Amino acid sequence: MITERQTDSNAMWGGRFSEGPTAIMREINASIPFDKRLWQQDIAGSKAHLKMLVSRNIVTAEDGQKILEGLNQIAAEYAEKGVPEDWSLEDIHMVTEKRLADLIGAAAGRLHTARSRNDQVATDFKLWVRDAIDMVDKGLTALQMALVNRAEEHAATVMPGFTHLQIAQPITLGHHLMAYYEMITRDRSRFYDARKRLNQCPLGAAALAGTGFGIDRHQTAEALGFDAPTANSLDSVSDRDFALDYLMSATQTAIHLSRLAEEIIIWASQPYGFVSLPDAYSTGSSIMPQKRNPDAAELVRGHSGRIAGCMNALVMTMKGLPLAYSKDMQDDKPPVFEAHDLLSLALAAMTGMIETLTFIPEKMRKTAEAGFSTATDLADWLVRQAGIPFREAHHITGSAVRLAETQGVALDALSIDDLNAIDPRINESVKAVLSVDASVASRRSYGGTAPDQVRLRIKDAKQALGLH
Ligand code: ARG
Repeated sequence: MITERQTDSNAMWGGRFSEGPTAIMREINASIPFDKRLWQQDIAGSKAHLKMLVSRNIVTAEDGQKILEGLNQIAAEYAEKGVPEDWSLEDIHMVTEKRLADLIGAAAGRLHTARSRNDQVATDFKLWVRDAIDMVDKGLTALQMALVNRAEEHAATVMPGFTHLQIAQPITLGHHLMAYYEMITRDRSRFYDARKRLNQCPLGAAALAGTGFGIDRHQTAEALGFDAPTANSLDSVSDRDFALDYLMSATQTAIHLSRLAEEIIIWASQPYGFVSLPDAYSTGSSIMPQKRNPDAAELVRGHSGRIAGCMNALVMTMKGLPLAYSKDMQDDKPPVFEAHDLLSLALAAMTGMIETLTFIPEKMRKTAEAGFSTATDLADWLVRQAGIPFREAHHITGSAVRLAETQGVALDALSIDDLNAIDPRINESVKAVLSVDASVASRRSYGGTAPDQVRLRIKDAKQALGLH
């Protein structure tokens, strides 16, 4: 007996592949489901190319006008109804060309003179990545502003500074937040470099070798806001280093966001209690009524892993490809689109969290004091005031910390008698350096944590951000 299953051309493929190879090829070949996102860049590129063809008398003014009107109508249709996803037409370039032919007839075919989809897609994608970089820069700037504002508010708020996640020395919260401002400054410059580097126009490289038509590549490059045409036609259609530059810059930014997210998660946990998360960026538990979970921060941390994954995906796609274009390169777009969406969202969430977090200065201060974070200050005092070699001072300080620990008090609460019993060279003036406030105030070296230093750096930052 023959079952229904066995009558399929291939039972394993099932459903939509029942038509066999035609359907499979159509699906694996089609990029329209994702590259429709390039439609605006594709229309812009086509218009620039068209204008150049007309000015070089390669296409007549009459045909040029028809094509231009057709492209305008298509753009209006896409804007209103979206791009139709016809898989048999493969990609955004063919979907648009077909629609143009439907609208204006044979003249449509003249648009593709002296052009190939290879230089067309490279141009479209560069334009898209350039816009993406500009958007990310806005997001990064907003995060910097949030950091600077909160840092200013907390320029003198004392908190424990950590190494190995062990309490090390007291710092100010403003200083800690400004550390991220610096990281984001470098992230912005990385994207800026990527933008500068990508800004050469591949259009006119044609399939791989250039073209015999008398085109003007400088004209199209200029019309599309590029600094110049690319210098080598093979390179133009076969590299995606500009997309990788974007993904690598995005990954580095994501790493920074993830570290900040991790700190927020730690700070919000009850044993720390340094911050309380706004309702807007946390959730309750369906079973434990006391809980407030830092979901947004956790997802920023999670998304950063996915962004790094996108970068890896394109690295692996590109690494073994011979010159020039290979169809593998069609897979360049999904990871860039995905990373961009994830990064934009992560940036918005992080900026929102920084703006609305409630810091709890009392808890930060208490933790810094309880952690004997001024031990280095005691050792430094012994070196400076009593002329004791640092190694010995380190040893004496260790004894003082042990004593404070047994007494259950902060270092600056030990009596002078107690300190004298440890080392007779210690006198009353040591008290001035043992408080957490004295400790941070003393760290005035350039870039140090002293509130007046932090305020100076905030001033620089505000100037850089145009906030003055
Ligand atoms: N959809 C293609 C891509 O994104 C366009 C280029 C096709 N070129 C070709 N030679 N088949 O890569």
